[in-house]
Amino acid sequence: MFYSEEIVEEVRSRSDIVDVVSRYVKLQRRGSSYLGLCPFHNEKTPSFSVSPDKQIYHCFGCGAGGNVITFLMEYENYSFQEALGILAQRAGISLPKEEMSKEARAQADLRASLLEINKLAANYFYYQLKQPQGKQGLDYLTKRKLSKETIRRFGLGFANKTSDDLYRYLKSKNYSDEILKQTGLVTIEEQKTHDKFWNRVMFPILDVNNRVIGFGGRVMGDGLPKYLNSPETKLFDKSRNLYGLNYAKTSREKCMLICEGYMDVIAMHQAGFVNAVASLGTAFTPQHASLLKRYTDQAVLTYDSDGAGIKAALRAIPILKEAGISCKVLTMAPYKDPDEFIKNCGQEAFKDRIDSAKNSFLFEIDVMKREFNLEDPEQKTRFYNSVARKLLEFPEALERDNYIQAVSREHFIHYQDLKQLVQRISSQMVPGMTVRTSEVSVREKRKSKDDGVKQSQRLLLTWLIENPKLFEKIEGVITPEDFREDLYHQVAQMVFEEHQAGDVNPARILNRFINDEAQYKEAAALFNASLKESLNNEEQKKAFLETVIKVKKNSLDEASRAAADISQLQKIIQAQSALKNLHISLD
Ligand code: UTP
Ligand code: MN
Repeated sequence: MFYSEEIVEEVRSRSDIVDVVSRYVKLQRRGSSYLGLCPFHNEKTPSFSVSPDKQIYHCFGCGAGGNVITFLMEYENYSFQEALGILAQRAGISLPKEEMSKEARAQADLRASLLEINKLAANYFYYQLKQPQGKQGLDYLTKRKLSKETIRRFGLGFANKTSDDLYRYLKSKNYSDEILKQTGLVTIEEQKTHDKFWNRVMFPILDVNNRVIGFGGRVMGDGLPKYLNSPETKLFDKSRNLYGLNYAKTSREKCMLICEGYMDVIAMHQAGFVNAVASLGTAFTPQHASLLKRYTDQAVLTYDSDGAGIKAALRAIPILKEAGISCKVLTMAPYKDPDEFIKNCGQEAFKDRIDSAKNSFLFEIDVMKREFNLEDPEQKTRFYNSVARKLLEFPEALERDNYIQAVSREHFIHYQDLKQLVQRISSQMVPGMTVRTSEVSVREKRKSKDDGVKQSQRLLLTWLIENPKLFEKIEGVITPEDFREDLYHQVAQMVFEEHQAGDVNPARILNRFINDEAQYKEAAALFNASLKESLNNEEQKKAFLETVIKVKKNSLDEASRAAADISQLQKIIQAQSALKNLHISLD
């Protein structure tokens, strides 16, 4: 952390979260908190809640949550320093400059300069397109049926034929070679300097907050490479950004369209499908998926209809599923991609394709089917077996049966036959389990036990935070040391300490984790127990004792394994047997 905890805490405590959030989100008072439409995902009924008491926000829909600083970081895509700076300014606190380490300040300045230069470059390219020397570029874009309005909206531009045009322009703005090198826009060698992009139409790449983080440039013909992209820089990480998301995120459509390229996104937006994004020449990554998950839980893949596009779709499906995004697949055949499809068939036809997009599982089966020659009885049997094995991916009987029905209908396989085949394969799998699956199941069992203990620690901590009276109930039984999960242990230490001092302050505790996104998210979740988890009915009251025992037992078990001598071990054993007689009444 570059600022001392004290100063960060001062800025936070003097910035009221309701005040700050309501600049962006319309909030309405509901009981002790405020409610509004979540700015981090698309919804029609409000599930975004801001608590003035706890000074935190939480969305019951998408799980976003945090304090006033993270709100700005998430909403404005600010770095921690930027968010803190804005809040400090509003609160009239001057941040001590020297508190930032030299290195940290340099990093922050570098990022800011790179953004500035990219913006200048984007404007420069845009300007060139409108000049006589940019005519070739403008003609090219016009030939590709892009309207003036679309060109403006996406900030498309032109890089000149001269090879160091942009470099000279940026030099005239007094930037050093040192920093220009880091933009990826120019190469500077001893004898000669040249622009990375020349004689290409330019596509600026914007992040979700409309800041230019990189560029793609296309040749205006058949040259290679067809698209040249900015290299990865301090600003540009291909696996974390989606082209078009800056517009798509506000589309308020219930799903996102995922495609492959710049022109596809632009063509779709121009035709009114403003929920289209692209992963730009790299495979779709889990980071892309989690970025998308902020805004939607449904996607339609509109990849190219060629072999590469199909492969890319097959790879993206499990990544999306893993992130909790259900997906469908569109085929653009007989055309190559959405751009060509729309050009040839129009937006109505494209809309029809979206409406009849294929469920991703059925799409996977279709692709699989192509590998078999169904004229051949043996191959046909192998195809059925593969289908049945794939159906076993659904652990839920009901869901699986729905898919058995769908597959049998679509591929003319007798429903009962397919169902029996699935059952037979499933029953064969248990006794004759292969080494690999048995390993998996042992690992899964262990994992589920670990998850269970972790879950108990999380619940217990959540309950204590929600309901400080519970501290009395666990006095002498549970200490912060019993939370063996590192993160929970850290939080527990602070919560117990603050409870003793009589003032548990979630936003202050969260501040400690602000530099680690993953930890931060998990910690924030502790302060936002969903209703289902609060202790408000009889069953859950019973669960409290069970949970306390589970947490303590795990802690004692671990301690006994680490015991250094006999007397220590004896104490642990005593505590273990005392645990059997523990009674806690919540009434
Ligand atoms: P495609 O080759 O499918 O191009 O590449 P496209 O989008 O249909 O382009 P047009 O319509 O011919 O102009 C899909 C995406 O892969 C990346 C680009 O992001 C492109 O939009 N790509 C492709 C590159 O980065 N470099 C290349 O040389 C080719
Ligand atoms: Mn294309």
